Amino acid sequence: MRVCVIGTGYVGLVTGACLAHVGHDVICVDNNEEKVKMMKAGRSPIFEPGLSEIMESAIEAGTIEFTTDLGAGVNHGEILFIAVGTPPLPTGESDTRYVEAVARGIGTHLQGGYKVIVNKSTVPIGSGDWVRMIVLDGMAERQKSLAGDSGSADVTPTDIVAEFDVVSNPEFLREGSAVYDTFNPDRIVLGSNASKALAMMQELYAPITQRKFAEDPSLPAVPVVMTDLNSAEMIKYAANSFLATKISFINEVANICDRVGADVTQVAQGIGLDSRIGGKFLQAGIGWGGSCFPKDVSALVHTADDYGYEAQLLKAAVEVNQRQRLLALEKLQKELKILKGKTVGLLGLTFKPDTDDMRDAPSLLLIENLNRLGAKVKAYDPIVSSSGLRDGLTGVLVETDPERLADGCDALVLVTDWKQFQSLDYGNMAKQMQNPVLIDGRNFLNREEMEKAGFRYVGIGH
Ligand code: UDX
Repeated sequence: MRVCVIGTGYVGLVTGACLAHVGHDVICVDNNEEKVKMMKAGRSPIFEPGLSEIMESAIEAGTIEFTTDLGAGVNHGEILFIAVGTPPLPTGESDTRYVEAVARGIGTHLQGGYKVIVNKSTVPIGSGDWVRMIVLDGMAERQKSLAGDSGSADVTPTDIVAEFDVVSNPEFLREGSAVYDTFNPDRIVLGSNASKALAMMQELYAPITQRKFAEDPSLPAVPVVMTDLNSAEMIKYAANSFLATKISFINEVANICDRVGADVTQVAQGIGLDSRIGGKFLQAGIGWGGSCFPKDVSALVHTADDYGYEAQLLKAAVEVNQRQRLLALEKLQKELKILKGKTVGLLGLTFKPDTDDMRDAPSLLLIENLNRLGAKVKAYDPIVSSSGLRDGLTGVLVETDPERLADGCDALVLVTDWKQFQSLDYGNMAKQMQNPVLIDGRNFLNREEMEKAGFRYVGIGH
């Protein structure tokens, strides 16, 4: 099928590249020329395992193209994905101006046969109808400008008869495993009341729902949830809010474990084996971050507010998370007492492993507060240390060698659970410190091994 994806951030680029990989004919549109140039050369502007490889093979197979020309993309696609960002505003609402600009742009270029316009961006509930309205506005604008410019136009106003439907198709991919998640989804959600649009979307996803590119092709077909627009949009917010709440829940339990002398890792295992609870997302730590959870939970709280409902549980999940992010600081104060004049080394800076994303990363609040209390901060991160990202950071000295990080430190804090942190020479690192303290903010390392290496080991909730 002919597909156009507008916006080449995490969601757009992964969607475009994966749909091209399964054989669709894809054009990705972005207004950033530098980025388009880079992608044309087969290079991904984001760090995402496996993405460059599938981009390169799709370019070679001729199933993907990149352009800044929205008109060309709209003309090409029978399915048009809107996949631009909806960053949070200071109020907690989503900033939908990029979605609006794209919807209007689609409207001004739309003509000819039937098209499906897909909202892939996470948009406030009710946006499906709003997008339809903006597209129609764009079409009317074009009609008006052509009518006022009759003599010279090669398209007459009557040519602009475009039929379209809007579908909400929320994305559930995780950064760091986005390509894997796209080919191995738990479900696909499609929201629309137009059966023609839903049928086209099912055809588009058939190679994925039939598990042709899945890790285990013998599994039953991927379930497709077909629903109305508003419910599809709500599913996205509810899923992310539930997962964030689940983490805040286990973090709360961890804090109680700390006080009563129980071990949260074992508690998580013990409750997670109950199939009604499930063992995933029960990893206690110094809180959730990233581009989705904080934004989506706040947006849902805000929507509830708009409709006169106070989402108490979700507000509490956010509050628990804010407090959790400062837990490493509390533990450092308990171990080192005065932080002024001390040096703290952070293992990891990104909000989670296998990504270069620093958005809403717990490390940022920690650095800010350590600086405020007069401590010097050093850090090592497998991606940030070796990229230009380190130049954008203030208040922290970024080391390029993890084993040099410990030199001169009074304590280390493991902030991100990067796999390679499991195999560092901790014995050697401990030797470089006077009273070696290690706060494991992700319960990622083995207490006995760390104690054997010479550290005083402090976990979360055990
Ligand atoms: C999340 C959702 O998982 C995904 O479905 C949605 O599309 C986008 O938001 P992502 O932000 O990439 O994906 O990260 P995820 O792996 O879900 O982790 C989010 C945060 O929660 C990270 O900061 C992570 O460290 C933290 N986390 C996760 C925990 O603290 N404990 C856990 O058990 C799991």
